[in-house]
Parts: sequence; C-alpha cells; structure tokens
Amino acid sequence: MLYQNLSLSSILVLHGPNLNLLGLREPQFYGNLTLDDVNRLLEKEAQALEVKVSCLQSNHEGVLVDAIQAALGQHNGILINAGAYTHTSVAIRDALSAVKIPTVEVHLSNIYQREAFRHHSYIAPIAIGQISGFGADSYRLGLQALVGQIKIKELAKP
Ligand code: DQA
Repeated sequence: MLYQNLSLSSILVLHGPNLNLLGLREPQFYGNLTLDDVNRLLEKEAQALEVKVSCLQSNHEGVLVDAIQAALGQHNGILINAGAYTHTSVAIRDALSAVKIPTVEVHLSNIYQREAFRHHSYIAPIAIGQISGFGADSYRLGLQALVGQIKIKELAKP
C-alpha cells in the first residue's frame, strides 16, 4: 500500500567470473542450480516485488566495470556477485563508488567459512550490505533487501 505510488525500480544484476559454470562448478559450495535457474528465480522474485531485473554475467573485469558505468541513469540498484573479483578488484569497487547506485553484495557460499583470502571483500565497505551463504537464495534475499532499501530512500525524499 505504502509503496503503490513509487515508479518501477530497475535493478542491474551482475554475476562475475566462473558463475556461468553454476550447476557444474563445485556443487558443495555453489549448489546444483545453473545461472539460468538463478536468473529465473530473480525474475520471479522481481515480479513479486514489482521491479525489473536485467542480468549480466561476465568473466572480464572491464566488462563488469563498463556495465556499472552504463547503469548510471538506467538502473536504481545493483545486485552483485563479483565472484573472485570480490577479493581482488579495486576497479569494480571504484566503479560502484563512482556511480553511487545503491548496491547489495551477494555470495552463494559463506565466504567466511572458506579460505582466508575469501574473507576480505573490496565491495563490502561501499555496499549497503552483504548476504553470503544461502546458495541461490542469497540472490533472492539480496534482491528483497535492495528493493526494500530503495523504497525506504524514495519515501524519505521530500
Ligand atoms: C562466490 C565466492 C567467491 O569467493 C568465489 O570466487 C566465487 C563465488 C560465491 O558466490 O560464493 O566465484 O562469490
């Protein structure tokens, strides 16, 4: 009810390197769903939340940086699983800081239960928050949290 006058939000979903291999890749960490399954799950959740999602996967850091820059004026939220770039990429963090689009970071696995090099995220300090360890549900929960935050910010506008 409260949200009914808000315009439809558009969320950019970014999947980083090796996430195209979901379903095949280390199922003990990443589960059995494919990337298409995850995107379908997000589409379904987006419908329920009355938002639009645009999903992109790339194995290339620069492609992800370009997509973040191009999101300016096109999307009002970014849901990102940067994969291994989470732990290495100052460029992706800088792009997110530059565009200032509200961002939620997600991970299928619980990165804090794994190797020490996965415990640090360059993105976490500039994201609204991080959801990690719920498998594909991390994305669904992340989308819910992101849309909730966007709506709260909209409502706070004079
Ligand atoms: C991941 C965790 C990262 O450490 C890893 O490099 C990935 C996937 C996850 O979703 O759990 O590629 O982001």
